[in-house]
Amino acid sequence: AHNYMTPDIFHGVADIVGDSLQLAIEAKRANADVIVQCGVHFMAETSKILSPDKTVLIPDMKAGCSLAESITGADVRALRERNPGVPIITYVNTSADVKAECDICCTSSNALQVVESFGTDKVFLIPDKYLAANVGNKTHVEVLVWDGACEVHERFTAQELRDYRKIDPGVKIIAHPECPPEVVAEADFAGSTAHMIDWVKTKQPEKVMMITECSMADNVASETPGVDFIRPCNLCPHMKRITLGKILDSLVEMREEVVVDPIIAKKARIAVERMINLKKISQDLYR
Ligand code: 13P
Ligand code: SF4
Repeated sequence: AHNYMTPDIFHGVADIVGDSLQLAIEAKRANADVIVQCGVHFMAETSKILSPDKTVLIPDMKAGCSLAESITGADVRALRERNPGVPIITYVNTSADVKAECDICCTSSNALQVVESFGTDKVFLIPDKYLAANVGNKTHVEVLVWDGACEVHERFTAQELRDYRKIDPGVKIIAHPECPPEVVAEADFAGSTAHMIDWVKTKQPEKVMMITECSMADNVASETPGVDFIRPCNLCPHMKRITLGKILDSLVEMREEVVVDPIIAKKARIAVERMINLKKISQDLYR
């Protein structure tokens, strides 16, 4: 289950919880014939890409993502034609078709490391223009963008964060890098959902505000009783399609099965495994 699942799923039934990177790795490692992926479709598809022999189920096939919907495989082919020699990195929040056309995948946990792994002076990081801009602000590499955004994180504003701080100057604010750069600039820390959770558990701030999907604060709050959570609540409508009832139906009826065309899966697997085996990437791939 992804960190954005509601606590009944996150704490109640999940065997494995984590951010996109952890879920992709654990799905492959899992000693099981069937995986029920509680998250959105691209996450289940990534599990299937990495574990073609396992049955991967998603409790609601309509659980999508605004980022995944913002770009197609044909778009990536056109981008490559117009920009020969520029590596194309895809955020994990994309379809298998898109991953199949890209050089490597990344998540918000490792985007900076992936961008710098090519040793080139520019790369494309698609499709999240805000993640790309946030990574671009931390590196000398020119990070070229696609015009996609997360419909949940793009709603946060820097003014909103400044207003919260004015009311409560002691509050610590941590944000997901899918937020616009001016929001990240106002935050005390930015990182993937797993990194945000680790930050709260390690720092144990008196008061914290997590600028991300709002179920995550519920999940961490029960594990950090000494921390007071101020909760701006933006829900991801796609993540919230996954419910306990639908998980039960999934298990009882073995549905809905995620299927990926084997030829596309084979190409997409190269991009995802390159990310997982990052240290093994050939430094001269694009020199
Ligand atoms: P993480 O990889 O940080 O879990 O993010 C996934 C996601 O969809 C955030 O909106
Ligand atoms: Fe996609 Fe945003 Fe929902 Fe994450 S929170 S699944 S990026 S729409």
